[in-house]
Amino acid sequence: MKITNICCIGAGYVGGPTMAVIAEKCPHIKVTVVDLNESRIAAWNAEDVNNIPIYEPGLNEIVANTRNKNLFFSTEVDKAIDEAELIFISVNTPTKTYGTGKGMAADLKHIELCARQIAKVAKNDKIIVEKSTLPVRTAEALKSILDNTGNGVQFQILSNPEFLAEGTAVQDLLNPDRVLIGGETSPEGQKAIDSLVDVYANWVPKERILKTNVWSSELSKLTANAFLAQRVSSINAMSELCEKTEANINEVAKAIGMDSRIGSKFLKASVGFGGSCFQKDILNLVYISKAFGLNEVADYWEQVIIMNDHQKRRFSRNIVQTLYNTVSGKKIAFLGWAFKKDTNDTRESAAIYVADDLINEQASIAMYDPKVKHDQVLSDLNYLETRSASENEKRISTFDNPYAACENAHAVAILTEWDEFKTYDWKRIYDSMLKPAFVFDGRNLLDGEKMKAIGFVYQSIGS
Ligand code: UDX
Ligand code: ADP
Repeated sequence: MKITNICCIGAGYVGGPTMAVIAEKCPHIKVTVVDLNESRIAAWNAEDVNNIPIYEPGLNEIVANTRNKNLFFSTEVDKAIDEAELIFISVNTPTKTYGTGKGMAADLKHIELCARQIAKVAKNDKIIVEKSTLPVRTAEALKSILDNTGNGVQFQILSNPEFLAEGTAVQDLLNPDRVLIGGETSPEGQKAIDSLVDVYANWVPKERILKTNVWSSELSKLTANAFLAQRVSSINAMSELCEKTEANINEVAKAIGMDSRIGSKFLKASVGFGGSCFQKDILNLVYISKAFGLNEVADYWEQVIIMNDHQKRRFSRNIVQTLYNTVSGKKIAFLGWAFKKDTNDTRESAAIYVADDLINEQASIAMYDPKVKHDQVLSDLNYLETRSASENEKRISTFDNPYAACENAHAVAILTEWDEFKTYDWKRIYDSMLKPAFVFDGRNLLDGEKMKAIGFVYQSIGS
């Protein structure tokens, strides 16, 4: 089938950038992104493209080029489904917070709602593409709903997992290492795969487009994220050992990264990984493994999460211990709240858990992040349900400039690796702080020797 009209359900961190790049690279295809969330769609349609709801370097320019030409954002879900030949499902699949599999399995309620809606509306054959990270065998559930509630039209289900990383989404989409498309092995399945291959082939070299069966594709996504997260937990485990010895984690990472079998990427010790994927996908892998009775496999991967939780906790405990075993009433400045640089996404950010620990110790947090707003910080903390919303409000303040956040603070904690933090006038910050002035660098971002020369008591991860 030649694709001329694409609909994407879900205008989030995955759906928005992915569809913008498809629209940019395929001017002959009309791309409509729909979402139930009216304010999110209104923000995508904001007159000033700098106000779109997702911050990704380069995204605003692509949206400016394509919006209202062949890229549209709308709340008219049914209309967009009806018109499209190919429908991407990019709705969120958070970890379940209730019932069976609570805290582990992915919550598929949004996916199921989409499937029922597509089945209700579709009057002709459609290709449905799973874009959201989904547990293995979701396609089967999707197919069952579509076939049993539909109007007798044919659906082909493809799995096309997203490998973009936030903060580099546009580059990752424009120049992907690979595009993975899983489908049924039947002739109809292969035809559907080829339709989607033709879309990507507008800018991705054919040899980088891999075709697999649906299950391999779904499991590859979980596996890729588990391997990446495992590298971060591995280097973080070694960082604790470095702190007890004379070794320096940056030197160790460099030394092992030059082994071409190991490779140099994803070896940065940190306060812990965050983001919407790593933890969720590993929990999912653990849940699936347990469901098949593979307890050793489940325990093996669960350790990656245990290590990550330990790393976050260890960071906050170290702050308390170093500040003479009490932070009660003390002001701790946080630089960074996003889970990594170049994004306004805060899901599972280490900053949330470190702040929560320190607030339990009665500290006051003064936060500055170039892209994260006060309301988001509060809602992240309230989501943990550790204390009342009004108590959180009393304990955390946010600033729109870093110097004000650090003034009269006992310590600065670096939670996100924003480049701009390196360029600050750290002498000015030092002069405005209470003495001794501490810096806890959770990202190994700053030059420790320079910080010590200014007068800071400087601690980084893993040295
Ligand atoms: C990840 C995968 O990289 C991507 O392919 C997938 O599609 C979605 O999940 P993302 O979560 O956006 O992407 O960011 P990523 O760059 O993988 O970072 C995840 C977390 O690990 C961040 O908190 C980051 O700061 C941390 N990290 C990463 C480290 O602490 N050290 C590293 O060396 C690398
Ligand atoms: P991701 O990082 O996976 O893109 P987001 O939470 O950023 O996740 O985006 C998912 C989007 O999907 C949200 O904007 C949400 O409103 C939307 N969504 C969820 N369920 C539906 C649905 N049934 N129909 C349309 N949009 C939906």
